Amino acid sequence: MEKKFKRTLITTALPYANGPVHIGHLAGVYVPADIYARYLRMRGDDVVMVGGSDEHGVPITIKARQEGVTPQDIVDRYHKIIKDSMAELGISFDVYSRTTTDLHARTASEFFRRLYDNGQFEEQTSMQPYDEQAGEFLADRYVVGTCPHCGSDRAYGDQCEACGTSLNATDLINPRSALTSAPVTMKQTSHWYLPLNKWEDALRKWILEGHKEWKTNVYGQCKSWLDMGLQPRAVSRDLNWGVPVPVEGAEGKVLYVWFDAPIGYISNTKEILPDSWESYWKDPECRVVNFIGKDNIVFHCIVFPAMLMAYGDGFQLPDNVPANEFLNLEGDKISTSRNWAVWLHEYLRDFPGKQDVLRYVLTANAPETKDNDFTWADFQSRNNNELVATLGNFVNRAMVLTHKYFDGKVPAAGNSEEIDERLLADIRSVRDSLTANLDTFHFREALKDAMDIARLGNKYLQETEPWKVAKTDMGRVATVMYCALQVCGDIAVAFAPVLPFMSEKLASMLGMGVLTWDMLGRDDLVKSGTVLGSAELLFEKIPDEQINAQLERLSRIKEENKIKNFKAEPQAADVDFDTFMKADLRVGTVLECTKVPKADKLLKFLIDDGLEKRTIVSGIAKYYNPEELVGKQVCFIANLPPRKLKGIVSQGMILSAENADGSLVLIGPSAPVVPGVQIR
Ligand code: MF3
Ligand code: ZN
Repeated sequence: MEKKFKRTLITTALPYANGPVHIGHLAGVYVPADIYARYLRMRGDDVVMVGGSDEHGVPITIKARQEGVTPQDIVDRYHKIIKDSMAELGISFDVYSRTTTDLHARTASEFFRRLYDNGQFEEQTSMQPYDEQAGEFLADRYVVGTCPHCGSDRAYGDQCEACGTSLNATDLINPRSALTSAPVTMKQTSHWYLPLNKWEDALRKWILEGHKEWKTNVYGQCKSWLDMGLQPRAVSRDLNWGVPVPVEGAEGKVLYVWFDAPIGYISNTKEILPDSWESYWKDPECRVVNFIGKDNIVFHCIVFPAMLMAYGDGFQLPDNVPANEFLNLEGDKISTSRNWAVWLHEYLRDFPGKQDVLRYVLTANAPETKDNDFTWADFQSRNNNELVATLGNFVNRAMVLTHKYFDGKVPAAGNSEEIDERLLADIRSVRDSLTANLDTFHFREALKDAMDIARLGNKYLQETEPWKVAKTDMGRVATVMYCALQVCGDIAVAFAPVLPFMSEKLASMLGMGVLTWDMLGRDDLVKSGTVLGSAELLFEKIPDEQINAQLERLSRIKEENKIKNFKAEPQAADVDFDTFMKADLRVGTVLECTKVPKADKLLKFLIDDGLEKRTIVSGIAKYYNPEELVGKQVCFIANLPPRKLKGIVSQGMILSAENADGSLVLIGPSAPVVPGVQIR
């Protein structure tokens, strides 16, 4: 089915350098791209994998302003974190660059200029939000105001974060500038537009007819965009951060970030292959594969291809765009601004040496066809039950038994029995499925196939029982151990794209040398006579404490977010004055305070209320130690009918404020008063 290509250029979406990368980026883009690149390299293909940081765009300028630093400071900081952490995870970029290099500015600028000179743009004027005080046009993000849907007064001109609605700056009620708080006015400006409508037929033909093999989520999104009909898209912005528009009179205008960023793929290829980059971009014998997340589909399948067609000069369109859906974290959407993420650099700090565990879990849960969820419980169980108990355990048994019976030297196999032949045949059929899955970007299935090899190995040892046979027939044990070690070798090869660290360690224990894909399923990939290394454990159990620490971090973040996003309840309906005055509110002094047995929320108070001593039960045990309350003054409602709580008669109710995170804070007078006085 496959066309034969001489070379493959793998591109990975350029992450915005306004924050570190998280597990969502990894599962969606970088781990699958790396699996694919490593697999093709093992096959002996000519592969180049390019990546880099996307360092332009409005959010970076906003972050810089918030911190009082320059946009360059922001991107320098995050580019380094992203680059270092991805290298540590073993993402095998041939180049990881950035879009603030001179080479990129020249490449993007030249690209724009050629389209401009060839009449590929339309110039259009429009009214844009403007800040008179600052003398600047405002990106949608820089316009704040009241959301027309939910009334939040902190909505942005592109989205309301309180209710999630997408907005236009002109939708906002009472729009103000985020720069100066000045009221926003509208002012005319002109920009260059790429007429996508002109390319609609060509795109239709190329995708809808030519690429029916694309993933259904990708094909479907393209089809619905094309069916809606394409409009011209602005490719410039009024902003002071980005690649300047290379046209006279365009001062203060830069290329739109989504115009320059994909050109970053080209600049980055040029950076490592200054003389031969064109044989990856302009040669029909090279195919381009774009790894991206679903929010990038339109840019990679419609906008960038239209740019490339408009440019001409032999640029190839992508052969495939295996976009993934989204990964959630513990049931909630990952969000950089809400800090709801597992950050790669923090994972590497908290789980040193466990790169492969993360790579494994993210591949096993990859959101290939639908959104998926990452949970720490699943992370732990996949490590403990699959990597440790299935994979690691099999390899360890094979190694230990070989050390025990053959002094760690791979024995020569004698005559094979049916069960040995069946094992090798089963592995060859797994190999075929594994290879087909890798070729078609089904990495979850590929990982299951690889794990089946370890399962076959475990089953084989279980059935052949070399530890029993050793009492009678060492010749047979030699054959069994030889076969089991071949399975270990298969594991080293089959997992190499996904678990490169484990694979390298295992290959060196087995004396295998450089691993190539054609070794898989051979019956001599671990040679007899080889002296094995010591039987080191490949994986170790992850204890509950480590998982709990991560869960606690997440629940802390949840609480912090509740407080940050607190929005007061709308005012309640009016109450008439006489009704209100019927409530007898007083101040009392706490004489005694104790926990209520078998009720973890309740405290029992004995209060001096100026008349007598009164007992009140209150649900604040989670937030106070009883001892610290003795002597404090509290406010209470005195004239409620008595209520029985856990067998105790409570005479009234103590007042507290419920904080945004649900915690309770007692209300008392701001200076001591005589117990029993009324609150007015
Ligand atoms: N920075 C974009 C994002 O994170 C992706 C840019 S991909 C590129 O969504 F093709 F434009 F480089
Ligand atoms: Zn809203």
